[in-house]
Amino acid sequence: MHVPQSGIFALGTSSHSYLEFDLNKDADPLNLVQLVASLQEPRMTTGGVNLVVGFRPSLWRKIAPELIPEDVKDFEQPLEGVDGYSMPATQHDLWFWVAGSAYNVVFDVTKAAITALAPLATLASEVAGWSYKESRDLTGFIDGTENPSLAEAPEVTLVPEGLPGAGGSVLLVQQWTHQAAAFEALPVEAQEKVIGRTKLNSTELAEEVRGPASHVSRNVIEVDGVEQHIFRRNSPYGTATEHGTMFIGFSCEQSRLARMLSRMAGAEDGIRDALTFYTTAVTGAYYFVPSVEALNQFAISEEE
Ligand code: HEM
Repeated sequence: MHVPQSGIFALGTSSHSYLEFDLNKDADPLNLVQLVASLQEPRMTTGGVNLVVGFRPSLWRKIAPELIPEDVKDFEQPLEGVDGYSMPATQHDLWFWVAGSAYNVVFDVTKAAITALAPLATLASEVAGWSYKESRDLTGFIDGTENPSLAEAPEVTLVPEGLPGAGGSVLLVQQWTHQAAAFEALPVEAQEKVIGRTKLNSTELAEEVRGPASHVSRNVIEVDGVEQHIFRRNSPYGTATEHGTMFIGFSCEQSRLARMLSRMAGAEDGIRDALTFYTTAVTGAYYFVPSVEALNQFAISEEE
């Protein structure tokens, strides 16, 4: 039984730092994996924070071809949807997520990680995330209602035992800015139809009420009549004037995430997610988040 990176499931953290890095020109990807694996050691993780790391799928595959499902791809090109709508591809090489109870501890570990990685990788983006009210996103709706419980989450999130990459997870990271004024100008009933749930307590609206373009309808997907779930760890980010949602979605298989995105963009059936008229994806990248054992194979102890 492979052990997943535990921070994936560590709920209750209210401060987050999301970092993306690019491998420096001429740097060896193997050295980057070794460095990251070594950072996972206690000196980075005992400060009251959780650290989760993911690699560009093609980079990880180059280093550990047996330790990733064969079909996992980078976010290679923009996702083209209906009527000229598209979501950007901004793939980077490495993803770091530092999460803790307060930003002071997150800040120190974030700074230390950037410094430690600097010889091999350059910071491409840094976003600070935080919790808003009782798990609401910045549209004011509760985010995470339909997330699997912690008992169900591992099955939804992790590549099953016996397959390449077991205990790892496929991750989609997308930064979405909100057009808050436009969304807030809608009457609450119209906002609820955009999401597909009530605003106060997140009760699901009946299918005929919410309609096929609602965010919920776009993201309820089935295979042979069985609903396909993902595990979301989104958080709000930003300032009072410019803010949005960091979408952090984990899945045992990439196809679920890709299909949800494709349905949101209207690429599957010409129906675009109503939420995308009030939020804009400004980044998009896939990462593979290896199991602890897979990562530890590359750790270099200090004595070496
Ligand atoms: C601006 C970005 C986004 C916002 C503000 C947002 C917000 C929400 C909210 C409020 C809900 C309803 C409550 C819940 O079940 O959590 C929801 C549901 C959901 N969202 Fe999103 N979301 C965003 C992007 C995405 C993306 C990019 C995906 C997939 C790639 C996604 C997948 C889902 C799924 C699977 C559900 C549950 C559907 C169900 O089973 O009822 N969301 N989201």
